[in-house]
Amino acid sequence: MDVNFQKELIDYISKNKIKPTCKVVTFGCQMNAKDSEKILGILISSGFEEIDDEQKADFVIYNTCTIRENANQKLYGHIGQLKNSYYNNKNKIIAICGCMMQEEGEIDKIKNKFPFVKLVFGTHNLYKFEEYLYDSFVNKKKIFEVYNDNKIIKEDIPKKRKYSFKCGINISFGCNNFCSYCIVPFVRGREKSRSSKDIINEIKSVVKDGVIEVMLLGQNVNSYGNDFRIENINELSFPELLKEVSKINGLKRIRFMTSHPKDFSDELIEVIKNNKNIARHIHLPVQSGSNKILKLMNRNYSREYYIELSKKIKESISDISLTTDIIVGFPGETEEDFLDTIDLINEVKFSQVFTFEYSKRKGTKAYEMDNQIPNDIVKKRFDKLLDTVEESANYNIIKKIGSIEEVLIESINNSTNNCTARLSNNFLVHFNNNSNHIGELVNVKFNESKGFYYIGELVNGIE
Ligand code: SAH
Ligand code: SF4
Ligand code: F3S
Repeated sequence: MDVNFQKELIDYISKNKIKPTCKVVTFGCQMNAKDSEKILGILISSGFEEIDDEQKADFVIYNTCTIRENANQKLYGHIGQLKNSYYNNKNKIIAICGCMMQEEGEIDKIKNKFPFVKLVFGTHNLYKFEEYLYDSFVNKKKIFEVYNDNKIIKEDIPKKRKYSFKCGINISFGCNNFCSYCIVPFVRGREKSRSSKDIINEIKSVVKDGVIEVMLLGQNVNSYGNDFRIENINELSFPELLKEVSKINGLKRIRFMTSHPKDFSDELIEVIKNNKNIARHIHLPVQSGSNKILKLMNRNYSREYYIELSKKIKESISDISLTTDIIVGFPGETEEDFLDTIDLINEVKFSQVFTFEYSKRKGTKAYEMDNQIPNDIVKKRFDKLLDTVEESANYNIIKKIGSIEEVLIESINNSTNNCTARLSNNFLVHFNNNSNHIGELVNVKFNESKGFYYIGELVNGIE
């Protein structure tokens, strides 16, 4: 017989007249942020109250990331600081989940170092969180359970959205690309797409709730539905899905992340171009500008292909902003390879570049490679990269001075009346306005550029 763990937990909490508190701490990418919304959603609908203080909360959970090496030390620091709060409140539950827990040996490390951690699970069994919460909170059980993979996508998990007006929507989980530096395919498993019906229904339901902007989430959104097609099941392609989503009434903006350049089709460019509610921003990680390094990274495209693609996108969709990720210091990267990357940045003119020093991840192909680059060289290249990035970003932002555009207000500082809003192309603008309308679209004139953001003024719109 199926037990309704949530109902049992709600009954337990009300029978015992308690008001337990919780805190969810999130590391890593949008995927983790979305998972955290599910975790918090379950906690709140079970009767927990969200508070800010990790030390005071009765239930604290860390949703971890392991994309780079130093993440582990950061996590251990946080948990170490909770030791006293646990010994002062023996009913406190300290839990850890997410990508880092999928790594070999991590559970044993946690057990040895932090015996007061009561609950650990991984990315593949998040769907069992209600059961784990019940068993640890009511039955005081210690639970350490991590699966290697799973085929289940559980729909209808309650979520507590961080923002009322925008949210992420999973379209696929996991990744099949195995870029040689990357741990994601090992900790998130093979690519699994959600059905387009479920995706569209979820978006319709959040729009009914007041959401006007969604971000479609997948490690490689462009390969959406491939897993269905391999099994001869009819499913939309990513451009088709995007087109359907753009027709949803009341949805004002659609973003998506992340696009792998190798799968970015002409059809996708057309769909973005023809639908104004699809944001004028594409995050298109290039990782390196050297063909030799791209090959070693297993990225499956060349420098020439990428430059050509970026040109095609910019020529087809006016006002589009391109952002990217770059890794410096990948094994075997020579000064010449690095200069190829600098050269590519100068040529493509990204609006924003996220820069990373290569981090060796156990289990990946690059971990075994010869010619790992010494730290001091990586640091030097990293600094030069930052200088290049700054120059190219300045070039892009100046183009808008004097123009007027619709922006989405994301936050307001009540003491200064300073509003921060986001443009369709993902840049930010600050302007002064004394009405509180977070989540609204307003027209703003851009007066001044400050590097990564504008200073502007409200032109018309909210009273
Ligand atoms: N699926 C996305 C990105 C996932 S990780 C994609 O393919 O683009 C986000 C970024 O972290 C990557 O784009 C890459 O630039 C960086 N990254 C991943 N593994 C890394 C590693 N081992 N060392 C340094 N940076 C890394
Ligand atoms: Fe990692 Fe590459 Fe997959 Fe992105 S596409 S998650 S970088 S393996
Ligand atoms: Fe980190 Fe996992 Fe995302 S390793 S970057 S949280 S998929």
